[in-house]
Amino acid sequence: MRGIPVKSFKHHYSHAAAGYYTSGMTDALIVVLDAIGEFDTGSVWVGEGEQIKLVEKMKYPFSFGLFYSAFTDLLGLKANEEEYIMMGMAAYGDSKRYWKKVNSYFPWVGKQKYNFHQGITDWDEPIDEQAKFDIAAAVQAVYEQRLWDIMCSYKVETGKENLVFMGGCALNSKANTMLWKIFKNVWIMPNPGDAGSALGAAAALYGKHLDWQGPYLGHDLGGEYPVDKIVNALIVDKIAPVASGRAEYGPRALGNRSILADPRDPDIKDKVNLIKKRELFRPFAPVVMEEHASEWFDMSYASPYMQYTPRCLKPELIPSVVHADGTSRVQTVNAKQHPGLYEVLSRWYTLTGVPVLLNTSLNIKGQPILNDELDVEAWRQHYKREIIK
Ligand SMILES: [Fe+2]
Repeated sequence: MRGIPVKSFKHHYSHAAAGYYTSGMTDALIVVLDAIGEFDTGSVWVGEGEQIKLVEKMKYPFSFGLFYSAFTDLLGLKANEEEYIMMGMAAYGDSKRYWKKVNSYFPWVGKQKYNFHQGITDWDEPIDEQAKFDIAAAVQAVYEQRLWDIMCSYKVETGKENLVFMGGCALNSKANTMLWKIFKNVWIMPNPGDAGSALGAAAALYGKHLDWQGPYLGHDLGGEYPVDKIVNALIVDKIAPVASGRAEYGPRALGNRSILADPRDPDIKDKVNLIKKRELFRPFAPVVMEEHASEWFDMSYASPYMQYTPRCLKPELIPSVVHADGTSRVQTVNAKQHPGLYEVLSRWYTLTGVPVLLNTSLNIKGQPILNDELDVEAWRQHYKREIIK
């Protein structure tokens, strides 16, 4: 627009700024890994005070993201969109069967020369159904090994104990879990991919830390969080679709555009899947009261944005939110973060002795999470089900 000054920032710097300036940290290693942005595929920075300084860039064709996306394509899934499905498939496969072969495509940081942009064009074995799961498992294992390698090496190089991790690769919640074994503190902004880079560019221009209050930044449907109605629906129906207050910023539904359900019922997964019509192997996530998280999951950190998958410690009690490999993509909640959702969980805990609910996004299959009143009405018409408001 005429008269309005325009300033632009590099793709990876926008990722780094989105992460660091929302982190609350004033001394951190910042690692950005994605498929590609301009010709950068990864970048490493240090944040000190309000300054972000570049340490190193990784250049195309070397790319963590393109490696993962090329194999997503090989399995017949949509690259740059359905990587999360391959991540879910990995739990059903034997990573050893194809490890050597997959590892040869991505042998070591800096040594990878394969150009993944064309996909995997030289795979020379038939891929039956089980092979798909085994390849997914091998890709995930190789990705995790390389991620472990670079995170450890940059920690040593920079001497930083705190990590800010950004870029589309930071959506790999299974791999993210290991970061807590390397660093004292980890921050992944809840919208770490390119969708969060508008915030990053604004933060880069501002050049200072933002007052990050949480992810409920979207369209406001208004109203008080309907605690009584949700608890009643959970008791009567075991399932409570909720749309209330501000929509979540980022790809996860964290209580305001969610389907909440009873995680103790082993059949609830099928019932929710009937509503959502998704692949049956895909796991559902739990939301847990923060102070009980370490009793139910192998974790000693908070996970307010569903970014990590610790092992479930009581899978027999909450079977519907445990994946095939015994892990769960946990959301922790405390009273400050979301008073209404915390109150729902408290009451559920009093009633059942279980401080956990299933939490999945409220969306029509293949479409984004519900945002405004029109979306809510479209969902209601589509599924012939009421939404609690
Ligand atoms: Fe990116």
